[in-house]
Amino acid sequence: MKGMHMEPSDQLGRLHQELMEVKRSVTRSQWLAAVLTVLVVILAIALIAVGATQGRSIRHLKGREGLIPNPNVTFATGSGDRSLYDLTYGGSLFRGSGFWAAKRPLQTMLSDHAAVGYNDVVFILGGSKSDGNSTTENVTSEVWKYDSVLHNYTLMAPMPEPRYRFGAALIENTIYVVGGRNVSDNQQSQPNDGMVKTMFIYDIVSNTWTRGPDAPEYQGDTCAAALDGRVYMIGGYGVNYTYLNITTVYDPEKKSWSRLPDMPTPRGDLMCASIADEIYVLGGYYDPTNQKPNSFSSKMESFNPKTAVWTTRPDLLTARGDAAIAVLEGNKLMLVGGEGHYRDQDNYKYPKHVNEVYYVDDQTWVQKAMIPTARFRTAAATAGGLTFVFGGADVCIQQPVCPTLENNEVFLDLDHPHVYIYLKNEAYNDNAKLTTYPL
Ligand SMILES: *[C@@H]1O[C@H](CO)[C@@H](O)[C@H](O)[C@H]1NC(C)=O
Ligand SMILES: *[C@@H]1O[C@H](CO)[C@@H](O)[C@H](O)[C@H]1NC(C)=O
Ligand SMILES: *[C@@H]1O[C@H](CO)[C@@H](O)[C@H](O)[C@H]1NC(C)=O
Ligand SMILES: *[C@@H]1O[C@H](CO)[C@@H](O)[C@H](O)[C@H]1NC(C)=O
Ligand SMILES: *[C@@H]1O[C@H](CO)[C@@H](O)[C@H](O)[C@H]1NC(C)=O
Ligand SMILES: *[C@@H]1O[C@H](CO)[C@@H](O)[C@H](O)[C@H]1NC(C)=O
Ligand SMILES: *[C@@H]1O[C@H](CO)[C@@H](O)[C@H](O)[C@H]1NC(C)=O
Repeated sequence: MKGMHMEPSDQLGRLHQELMEVKRSVTRSQWLAAVLTVLVVILAIALIAVGATQGRSIRHLKGREGLIPNPNVTFATGSGDRSLYDLTYGGSLFRGSGFWAAKRPLQTMLSDHAAVGYNDVVFILGGSKSDGNSTTENVTSEVWKYDSVLHNYTLMAPMPEPRYRFGAALIENTIYVVGGRNVSDNQQSQPNDGMVKTMFIYDIVSNTWTRGPDAPEYQGDTCAAALDGRVYMIGGYGVNYTYLNITTVYDPEKKSWSRLPDMPTPRGDLMCASIADEIYVLGGYYDPTNQKPNSFSSKMESFNPKTAVWTTRPDLLTARGDAAIAVLEGNKLMLVGGEGHYRDQDNYKYPKHVNEVYYVDDQTWVQKAMIPTARFRTAAATAGGLTFVFGGADVCIQQPVCPTLENNEVFLDLDHPHVYIYLKNEAYNDNAKLTTYPL
């Protein structure tokens, strides 16, 4: 029988095996230690997270100061009150989080369009298709449907007229297209700079367009949002690029428009979205004296239709106009990209990478992972639980018409505890770096 008698080489082999076993168990205990350390860290974060869920009231997490060995740093949850306990907002533990991925690009270059999410598809409406060599914008009436799962595009029934720099809003199965212009504003011969009051209504189920009652005012470079079955159109530019504070609402049941209280700060190139019970209006451009050619706004205001009251909300971290806005799950607004003016020159337009998310429940901004392809005059929408950013305008130095982009990029985020860092004894400006770099 073989194998009963052990040769010296067999013994060596066994010794080797035993040594390997010891080595493996050492590695295992190192792993165990590492896993325990990670668990302790997770537990610490979870403790803070539990704090975050203990009601909506503004809370300073007493006794947690030791988590960071700096007496000037503390944590607080759910606070929009920057003067809380003499603390200064210092950011979030989750600053910079999230990822971006490139998805199938648009089938044409496009800027100044609108994007509306509907279940797991996005409708991309109108816009300008200019290549940077044109002298007038090619304003289009095209409508594309983007499938967020299959990542392909289908051309739908076009809008009855071309349209760009307008607002679009969804109510159930209907998209309302309001404000904006139906011809390039570079064609000086156009009455009212090409602005239109016409409203077009798209029925998603039948893929057909109808015309609705005209809006009461010209609102170019405006924004729109829907809440409780009504469409709100807010601000923008009037004829000759005056700054508007006009707030108008369309009621599809009454088939009529009406005026609402003016927005506190007039501006054009602004963004808006509805979330919870309010319409939020963000950023934009306001330079009434025409003296400061970099007058982008960091203002955020919200309108509550039930009380008809405007409320001033925390400023954006980065002032900008013509950014993309989208509503994220969990009562959050995302504002990505946007326009800046380099060297304070009106005709040195550059696109920003910056991406900021506003936590409505906590009234707090958090800067998130920046978008790889900087753009302005762009549009975003959430579909199938993901948020896509389509097209936009690229760097535009002394060109009458800005070159446009095809890029489609998706933001991949994870929800996390609503925990914010506050600083004592120290003024901390989250925006300090962003004002010196053209992000
Ligand atoms: C814009 O329109 C002009 C005139 O119709 C056309 O020649 C040009 O190719 C268009 N450019 C783009 C980028 O669509
Ligand atoms: C724009 O014009 C420049 C210079 O004539 C040319 O090199 C470039 O290819 C043009 N771009 C497009 C998109 O046609
Ligand atoms: C999108 O992809 C699906 C599945 O491959 C296909 O059936 C459909 O025809 C595609 N649509 C377009 C517009 O390419
Ligand atoms: C733009 O709108 C005006 C006013 O409604 C209309 O007269 C004009 O025909 C429209 N232009 C285009 C290109 O649709
Ligand atoms: C716009 O400006 C032009 C030229 O200055 C002027 O003739 C016109 O009346 C202005 N329109 C409005 C509505 O202010
Ligand atoms: C809105 O703008 C108009 C025109 O400039 C102005 O008369 C009005 O007072 C403004 N409304 C508010 C609330 O500031
Ligand atoms: C805490 O703040 C004080 C006052 O601003 C400052 O002098 C001190 O250096 C800070 N300490 C640390 C550890 O940052």
